[in-house]
Amino acid sequence: AGSGKFFVGGNWKCNGTKDSITKLVSDLNSAKLETDVDVVVSPPFVYLDQVTASLTSRIEVSAQNSWIGKGGAFTGEISVEQLKDIGCKWVILGHSERRHIIGEDDQFIGKKAAYALNEGLGVIACIGELLEEREAGKTFDVCFQQLKAFADVVPSWDNIVIAYEPVWAIGTGKVATPQQAQEVHVAVRDWLKKNVSEEVASKTRIIYGGSVNGSNCAELAKQEDIDGFLVGGASLKGPEFATIVNSVT
Ligand code: G3P
Repeated sequence: AGSGKFFVGGNWKCNGTKDSITKLVSDLNSAKLETDVDVVVSPPFVYLDQVTASLTSRIEVSAQNSWIGKGGAFTGEISVEQLKDIGCKWVILGHSERRHIIGEDDQFIGKKAAYALNEGLGVIACIGELLEEREAGKTFDVCFQQLKAFADVVPSWDNIVIAYEPVWAIGTGKVATPQQAQEVHVAVRDWLKKNVSEEVASKTRIIYGGSVNGSNCAELAKQEDIDGFLVGGASLKGPEFATIVNSVT
């Protein structure tokens, strides 16, 4: 951990029921969480209101997606204004599942990020390479291109957290080694230094996601440029998520 306050997000993805989420929130409400960590959870849209209303701690709530502009005749979409209306503070954009399963491209994601930031939401901006891209030696190229699509359009970096999530590590149990993650994080920071500014490079938090769990988080958290985590599967278990939040060194 290096830049800024440690940041841990729990991305619940398309999981949960009213009952399981009630239990998870109650576990989070009673968990002992380090005070010096920003903690965010991201439930599916339909439970956002329930979670926002029932969390009693300082944990903030994030959406998993948002519409590209003002609401209106966009069937099936949720606007940034609606998210703010129910107390949501963040949105995850550019997640690999939306890039590779739903087919969102860099420009579309960039526009969403710009809109959300302009309206005052924080953005967890995800980047990361596929296994074949890593094996072809293209990890940095892919990450920098995804990063550039954000950098080209965002109004400011004040409310952005970058999540590096190598796609081959997501939901596979195959976590990146601390060295593999650190290598990309430091490269991302250098890219920011060269292409945005030294100040943004030093203060932007770069968090790691991909098979983070209660047993591997401490080693990862020791890396200089890992400023937190975006956690999928392990964030569905309150006590394990608390362990990850508390792994800050
Ligand atoms: O956004 C978090 C994520 O994609 C990582 O998922 O299940 O590998 O922790 P998981």
